[in-house]
Amino acid sequence: MASETHKGTVSATPTPSAPPLEIGKNGVPVLPVRDTVLFPHAVLPLTVGRESSIQLINSLGEEKTILVVAQREARVDSPQPTDLFSIGTLATVHKVVKMPNQSLFVFTEGLSRAKLKEFTQLTPFLRAQVDPLEDHEPETSPELEALQRNVLTLFQQIVAGSPTLSDELQTVAINIEEPGRLVDFVASSLPFLSTRDKQEILETSDVHRRLLAINRHLAKELEVQQLRNKIQTEVQDQVQQSQREYYLREQMKAIQKELGEQDEAQRDVEELRQKIEAAGMPEEVKKEALKELGRLARMSPMAADYSVTRNYIEWLAVLPWAKSSGVEVNINKAHEVLEADHYDLRKVKDRILDYLSVRRLKPSMKGPILCFVGPPGVGKTSLGRSIARALERKFVRISLGGVHDEAEIRGHRRTYIGALPGQIIQGIRRAETNDPVFVLDEVDKLGRDFRGDPSSALLETLDPEQNFTFRDNYLDVPFDLSKVLFICTANMLDTIPEPLRDRMEIIELQGYTEDDKAHIAERYLVPRQIEENGLKPEQIEIPDDAVRFIIRHYTREAGVRNLERNIGTLCRKQARRLAEGKTEKLVVTREIVQEFLGGIKVRLDTEIAERTKRAGVAVGLAWTPAGGDVLFVEANKMKGKGGLPLLTGQIGQVMDESSKVAYSWVRSNADKLALPEDFFKDHDIHIHVPAGAIPKDGPSAGVTMATALVSLLTDKPVRPLTAMTGEITLSGNVLPVGGIKEKFLAAKRAGVKQVILPAENRLNVEEDLMPEQVEGVTIHYASHIEDVLNVALPRSREEEKKDEEVREEVLQHANA
Ligand SMILES: Nc1ncnc2c1ncn2[C@@H]1O[C@H](COP(=O)(O)OP(=O)(O)OP(=O)(O)O)[C@@H](O)[C@H]1O
Ligand SMILES: [Mg+2]
Repeated sequence: MASETHKGTVSATPTPSAPPLEIGKNGVPVLPVRDTVLFPHAVLPLTVGRESSIQLINSLGEEKTILVVAQREARVDSPQPTDLFSIGTLATVHKVVKMPNQSLFVFTEGLSRAKLKEFTQLTPFLRAQVDPLEDHEPETSPELEALQRNVLTLFQQIVAGSPTLSDELQTVAINIEEPGRLVDFVASSLPFLSTRDKQEILETSDVHRRLLAINRHLAKELEVQQLRNKIQTEVQDQVQQSQREYYLREQMKAIQKELGEQDEAQRDVEELRQKIEAAGMPEEVKKEALKELGRLARMSPMAADYSVTRNYIEWLAVLPWAKSSGVEVNINKAHEVLEADHYDLRKVKDRILDYLSVRRLKPSMKGPILCFVGPPGVGKTSLGRSIARALERKFVRISLGGVHDEAEIRGHRRTYIGALPGQIIQGIRRAETNDPVFVLDEVDKLGRDFRGDPSSALLETLDPEQNFTFRDNYLDVPFDLSKVLFICTANMLDTIPEPLRDRMEIIELQGYTEDDKAHIAERYLVPRQIEENGLKPEQIEIPDDAVRFIIRHYTREAGVRNLERNIGTLCRKQARRLAEGKTEKLVVTREIVQEFLGGIKVRLDTEIAERTKRAGVAVGLAWTPAGGDVLFVEANKMKGKGGLPLLTGQIGQVMDESSKVAYSWVRSNADKLALPEDFFKDHDIHIHVPAGAIPKDGPSAGVTMATALVSLLTDKPVRPLTAMTGEITLSGNVLPVGGIKEKFLAAKRAGVKQVILPAENRLNVEEDLMPEQVEGVTIHYASHIEDVLNVALPRSREEEKKDEEVREEVLQHANA
């Protein structure tokens, strides 16, 4: 193994040109070198290890001149003449040092370029005839000078910009005057020039071209060097910046520690971790929570999504995964609580207790969901609250009215800005336990549109088959809702989405009679309002008479909400009086009611009396989600061309049709009613059902319309305080209708004394209405429209006279 490479620094000889060379006819020894080019005037230490080369050096006697030439291929171990470049450098060997590993360290100094001619010897080392090539320094010209100066400047810049090149090189270069020599010096000093580039420069004997070549290399190198420096500084800047931040942070920590303040964020993470540990989450959820916590710990609190991640973890941590409050259901106690909170509602309470008993026997029961249906203010929501109290569970309620976006139920994905869990999970969080009584109010007012169908999300929530793995979009981990007791409430059944209704146990709550309301007021509403308004029972008394006066003239409702509100108003007025120093007990009379609540608001009986003075007006009964109401049907006639009656008042298609049926029956019975023969030919009829804002539909106004028409055409006013409902056929038969209880109670509330119902509805009255509810009202059953007319219209002048008197009495009584 042999190698000749140059190591160590290069320097120019300050000595002037050597004496002319004497070369014998045998030529000079040729020393092949790898990866090295020796330039004239350069001193180069060569490591010589090749056997042939060692022999060459050892054979040197007085003769110290050799030819150093580069190999074309560094790999070749015993180069032949063809493996060498044809131009090398004549050199003097100054000194030889033996190295411990048998190789030699040879100091050579370049003398001049030389061209290889015939080889005179091949072994043990090469010898050849050479032809020295003297540098012909060209004539100076401005261009040459410019080039030379440029080379010098570039070289200086490179040396200055390089950390490895010695600054001395600059001084040496400045002192070289001959351009050819300068190039040789520069070329041999630059470590980045490849052997091939150097060899090319060596072979360029024309000095001008040599200058151009080195100039090109220098320019390129300078650019590379500048680029490298730029990158270097940038990297350094970055490193410095992050080091700076690191040090500042460390310092801050140290300061905080000194001041006794722990790292805020770190403490926060620690607290969250404790919450997670304490939350009793299922394994899967805990893993997710801890994963997110790990992420949070690595984030800077300044990062944009720090708070997003933190919120999420907080949500997971605070949910009651394992916290229940329910104790075993004690049916007797539950019964007591329900009784204590609500008046009557016997059937409803029984059904609730049945339901709870089954749950008690079979806690894992996947029972139906309870749904309370009834008019406003009859106690649906407050029953829910009462059940929670009876079971010693937490109570939460949400309203589904107007919810039309699935996300409101089930939340938005966390990727949304400002995303939150849906109402269900929010409710659970508020409950702080996983088994609350959860009331979903107004399921019948659930919307549905392009944003998705909330009812299917709701179904998933309520369905015991699915809800033990309820998945909120935000949480994205399952939550077990199976211990929650869901109760829905609604005003009407019709608009509850079918699949939901199927899974519900419907419990109907009906409107209250005046007596019911008076009892509820006395036992619940008055004491509650007295307390809520900070009064003492001995400071105010609202006797039964005043309560009934309020019920009759200040409310028009199936429930007791407005009644309670008015009682509250009375209590507040008394509180005000007490505050003003009037300390005597207030006993509320009708006069005080009028003074405190303002003039009478609702006067249905007088309205009926007033309106039915005129022939052509009949009182009908309607079922509404609010629990039934009275409604007026007005008919009028005018000269015209005949034809179908005009119908107004927001009337649905079914009601429209039944008006035509009524009209046809009246027309076909014109002679029985003693109408002029061609009356319908030149008279137009208009039927109007006022209170146009309430949409009305259904067939049950049929008898009322027929009655109004007959009253109009016979010019006899309908008897006072009489109301009716029923469907009519073309042949005049009266068919049964729905909502009898609500309609009847509405009529009674309005002060009606006679109610005409279809004969086939008799069973409804007997089953749904209690005797005391019917008290004070006469019910007439009709199977034909003539039965209706017999009751509804006066049959003689005397009766008509008497009716007028009754009406007057009602109106006067009201004014009194
Ligand atoms: N039978 C009753 N006994 C005692 N208080 C009652 C009874 N019925 C209703 N109330 C009271 O009437 C008020 C209104 O009841 P609640 O809010 O439960 O009505 P609701 O049926 O839920 O009505 P909505 O359909 O408008 O939501 C409550 O203060 C409630 O306590
Ligand atoms: Mg309610």
